[in-house]
Order: sequence, then C-alpha cells, then structure tokens
Amino acid sequence: MFVSENLDVNPSGHLTVGGVDTVDIVKEYGTPLYVMDEGLIRKNCQSFKKSIDMYYGGKGLACYASKAFCCKEMHRIIKDEGLGIDVVSIGELYTAMSIDFPAEKICFHGNNKTSEELKTALEYGVGNIVVDNLTELETLNSLALSFGKRASIMFRIKPGIDAHTHDFIMTGQIDSKFGLALETGEAFEAVKKAVSMEGILLKGLHCHIGSQIFDIDPFALAAQVMIEFIAKIKKETGYEVPQLNLGGGFGIKYINENDPVPYDKYMEKVSIKIKEACEELDVNLPFILIEPGRSIAGPAGITLYTVGAVKTIPNIRTYVSIDGGMTDNPRYALYQSTYEAVVANKADKPRDTKVTIAGKCCESGDLIGENMPIQQAEPGDTIAILATGAYNYSMSSNYNRIPKPAVVMVKDGKTRIVVKKEDLNDIVRNDI
Ligand code: LLP
Repeated sequence: MFVSENLDVNPSGHLTVGGVDTVDIVKEYGTPLYVMDEGLIRKNCQSFKKSIDMYYGGKGLACYASKAFCCKEMHRIIKDEGLGIDVVSIGELYTAMSIDFPAEKICFHGNNKTSEELKTALEYGVGNIVVDNLTELETLNSLALSFGKRASIMFRIKPGIDAHTHDFIMTGQIDSKFGLALETGEAFEAVKKAVSMEGILLKGLHCHIGSQIFDIDPFALAAQVMIEFIAKIKKETGYEVPQLNLGGGFGIKYINENDPVPYDKYMEKVSIKIKEACEELDVNLPFILIEPGRSIAGPAGITLYTVGAVKTIPNIRTYVSIDGGMTDNPRYALYQSTYEAVVANKADKPRDTKVTIAGKCCESGDLIGENMPIQQAEPGDTIAILATGAYNYSMSSNYNRIPKPAVVMVKDGKTRIVVKKEDLNDIVRNDI
C-alpha cells in the first residue's frame, strides 16, 4: 500500500510506522520530526549479510555507508548486526570511534582527506583507507612510516561505467572527482607505486558506480572490469590483490513507479560474474565488500510535519506549507527527488488532491515536492513524507537559522529519542 513495508494504517485511520501510530508520536515529540524504524534497519542489514552468505559463501562484508544516516545509535545498530561501516570524513569516523566500532571493519573514503583525517585513521587502525589519488598515497605512506605502521589501503578506481542515474550522483565515469582512471593507465601506475611502498599494504580495489541504481547489469559489468584489472596486476607485477569493494548504490522505492531489484538478485548475479571472471582469468576469488547506504536507511525513515498555511492559487496550484522543508530535506531542491506524501491523521482517506508541499525557508525553491497526490490537507494536520531515512537528516542544514529536528527510533512498539532536537542555544553556540 505504501512505498515502505513498515508503514500501515490503523483502525483510527492513522498512519503507523513499525506498528506505532504516527499521531501519537507527534503528540509526544512534536514536529518536524524524523522517525526511523530500527526493525527495518536491522532487517535490511540482515538481508545484505544473508545474500553474501548465500551466493558468495560468506566471503564478504557489507559495510553500511554511514553518509546516508549517521549518528551514534545508528552506528551501534550496525555494529550489533556485524556489518562494517563506510565513513567519509573525520566526523563520521569520530562517530564510529565514539562507540568503539571495530577499526578493522571501517572503510575510510574521501577524495581529499586531510592529514588530520589520515592520522586519526592510522591511530585508530582503520582497516581500509580507500586512497583516492597519488598525493594521498604519498602523504599516507610518509605518515604511516613516521608512526612505524603500515597503512592498509584500497584504491578507489573509476571503472568507467555509466549507470544511468542522475548526473549529480553519478561517480563511476571518467569525468569524476573521485578515484583513479583505468583507461588512462593512472590506476595501474598507482598500484605499482603502492606495492613498492614500505608504509602501504595494498589490500584491495574499490569502485562505486553511482547511487539509486535499479539495473543490476552495471554492477555486474563493474565487477567484471575490476576482476580484469586484478588479473592484469597479477600478470604484470605478480601481486594478487585479495579484496574487491564494489561500493553501494542500490535503488529504493520512493514512489510506486520505482522498481528496485531485490538485493539478493544483485548479489546472485554479481557473484556469478565474479566467479566466471576469476576462473577465466586465473585469479583467486577475492573477499568482497559492498557499501549499501540508502537501501539500509532510506526505507526505514519517515519525516513528520505539521501543516500551517494552505494557499490555493486558482488554476495554478495549491501550496501546503509545513513546519520544515529544505533544511531537513534538501533533496527536491537539489535533485528534484520524488517522494510519497500522506496526511498521517487521514491516512485511510483517498489521496484525491495534488499539491505542492512547501517548506518554511525564505527561498522559492524550498519545496518537498510538486504535484504530489495527497489527502485533503488542512492547517494542523500531520504530513508524513515517506522513505526519508537516507540523505535527509545527514544532509540537513541550519539555513535561515532553523534548528534541526530530533530523530526518534521506533522498536517493538516503543519510541525513543536517538538524536535530540536542536534548540536556540545550539543555533548561537559557536557565535562569539
Ligand atoms: N560507497 C561510496 C564510495 C559512496 O560514494 C556512496 C554514496 C555509497 C557507498 C552509498 O551509496 P548508496 O547505497 O547510499 O546509494 N546525496 C545523494 C546521494 C549521494 C551518494 C554519494 N555516495 C542523494 O541524496 O541521493
């Protein structure tokens, strides 16, 4: 009925999330509010784990891409599920460190890591520093030697694959700020250099071909290209790279038209491709890593807002204004992303109007969506925007000095705050 399996309508006609009435949640915590369903987060983690067990003999690790939704409690859940984690800044790394996330299961990304970031990663013993470029390789080698350590690295490779996704979030093609290109020989030069460096242990190769991808073929093609590269390295240097990280990017259902591939189908096809390529090219099956972000957090979250003004401009459109907007969800403003909207206190009623949901920022583009089918919304109603668990809280801002909402976690019919809402003191906290 809704885009995410954890949503339903109860006999009072209210939207429920993880079995809890959203109207009750709003009574307790107010709006705007992010709500995450712990049960679904865990289920999504387990499905990736199971698919690696089933199709790749368990010889792999799913590392949650924490840029999708990052806070201490999320990292605790990921740790408890036995997954690894992908971090991309000192802030995400620090969040992991602050809950004693196992260092060997951390992949540290970034196209321009600072020395401070690299030092912190070395000190903590991060298992996979994903090196993006030659400058970083040199810096890391010197730092590791000065620490008397050897840095375990992977190289971020651009496999040159067009994954047919939104231009803003496509990162696998050659014109990308991320990684080393295969076709120019840049990646091979970097590998040769790394294997000769005393401060570097080349553990693996990494690629990430984009985000919100619905097609399995580009993933399988990327896997094949990467195995071919491992074979070339083996043939020409004698060194066999033992690990392959295939990144994230698995699409989710934001609106009914979206049709994500079940994740085990992805793993099935990619595993077959890897096995075939390894056999043909005479390389050992690598240990594989994948980095799902959106597909773990996205479907598990909703955002709740209170309707304020409703403004109908005859023959043009109706604006329904809410008490949040681009500060808690900038994705429509940035990518024209589509979402499903529900009047949570009238969820049993037909969605028989189409409206523009507008935020409260001083900015015309501050919209959550246009032409959104929804029930008749009046001032005081609660609007739920669905599948907002990924890249909403993590991309929120304080534009217009609007405090960030709290994050509530739902589990076994109970709710708890996992991130407090900001107050006005937080807004002026760093002002002198
Ligand atoms: N691994 C790497 C190296 C990545 O760069 C990303 C996402 C992921 C994993 C996780 O991808 P996922 O499974 O979540 O698609 N802000 C954009 C998404 C940017 C994704 C950036 N990298 C959005 O709101 O759609």
